[in-house]
Amino acid sequence: MFKIILVIGLVICGFIGLQHAFMVYAGGSPQIQPKKNQINSSFKNQHTMKTQNKFEFPPLPYAYDALEPFIDKQTVEIHYNKHHKAYYDNFMNAIKGTEMESMMIGDIFRNISKYPAAVRNNSGGYFNHTFYWENMKAHAGGMPAGKLSEAIIDTYSSFDEFKKQFSDAGKTRFGSGWAWLCIDDKGKLFICSTPNQDNPLMDIAEKKGIPLLTIDVWEHAYYLKYQNKRPDYIDAFWNVVNWDVVASRYENALKSLSLK
Ligand SMILES: [Fe+2]
Repeated sequence: MFKIILVIGLVICGFIGLQHAFMVYAGGSPQIQPKKNQINSSFKNQHTMKTQNKFEFPPLPYAYDALEPFIDKQTVEIHYNKHHKAYYDNFMNAIKGTEMESMMIGDIFRNISKYPAAVRNNSGGYFNHTFYWENMKAHAGGMPAGKLSEAIIDTYSSFDEFKKQFSDAGKTRFGSGWAWLCIDDKGKLFICSTPNQDNPLMDIAEKKGIPLLTIDVWEHAYYLKYQNKRPDYIDAFWNVVNWDVVASRYENALKSLSLK
């Protein structure tokens, strides 16, 4: 009888041991799983890191081929890994050892005229590309819902007219730059474009505002697939606009204005 109990005990212990070993292998050991309050604490730490302004090169929010066939895999891969990364690296070099290392990017933009051209170009290149990747996704397009939709119709009469004006801003931007949908300090929507890596948050912007949606109209954003046909790239862009992100930016921008 004692032997039977001993064998059953060893089998149970062995099973528990194997289960534990598997969970550790799978990264799921119950002993190293964070509790809910620990997860919340992690988020708080991340938030603190942001307020301490540790500039990070953010991961691409989707796979390189996610925007196919509208924006091709090779373009996204080179654009993100080479162009965007170079702006980030050059931005980090440009602010090294300066007061800007501890500043929020919005504060740098609000004072951009005081800083060297390398900061203007590379902080813009860093921020603008991050903003651009975030306002696209696979299987997107369509049109926004809710308050943003109402604001677009109120301002531009129709969604098609809004698309036309935004597209025209991108098509007619001479040389390299960006087209933007923004809200001004009264909460009113407006469309504009900026040259090079400038953006509407910068104090040198012709018209300043809070950006909601952008498109990169530098040749490197479309040349491999569309060659010199920038209008075709802009037409295709509407199929990958992440309206959920744009609507969320709109809501946040309205809230920030109401806090002023
Ligand atoms: Fe770009």
